[in-house]
Amino acid sequence: MNAASRVMQSYGRCCASTSFFDTFYENFLASSPAIRDRFVNTDMIAQKQLLRAGILNLVLFARGMSDSKLRALGESHSRAGLNIRPELYDLWFEALIRAVKSHDSNANDEDISAWREVLSKGIGLIKSYY
Ligand code: HEM
Repeated sequence: MNAASRVMQSYGRCCASTSFFDTFYENFLASSPAIRDRFVNTDMIAQKQLLRAGILNLVLFARGMSDSKLRALGESHSRAGLNIRPELYDLWFEALIRAVKSHDSNANDEDISAWREVLSKGIGLIKSYY
């Protein structure tokens, strides 16, 4: 199975767990005060839905989908927009991997490496807009 299909299946198992996105944001907000400060006025219920689609777009991009959705995210998160410094994506990614490990009990080492490989491509594109 290729890496993108592996991630799609793992993501399906994560999304089947109702608290996957709660765990992600618990991990992410706890990772730095610089992160927590950015979400003090955010409607987190809506944000979790937006992120659900955002992660799907990262996976679909790795499978060959057009980059237009990720370019829009790159622009919204750029210096001129939300001003998300590129190094913060490492915290985002580690929070995600921890959430995957706790909600996809079937995930093995190959699945985790596939997540790293597949998402790094799209995250690189988003950061390139900074
Ligand atoms: C908003 C996805 C990384 C902070 C959003 C939105 C999406 C999204 C879909 C809503 C639409 C938009 O504003 O464009 C993602 C994805 C990421 C990522 C897929 C990783 C590849 C980050 C990081 C931070 C961050 C590292 C660092 C703090 C924010 C903030 C908002 C936002 C502050 C606005 C929240 C509000 O409306 O109050 N993100 N994001 N994001 N993101 Fe990200």
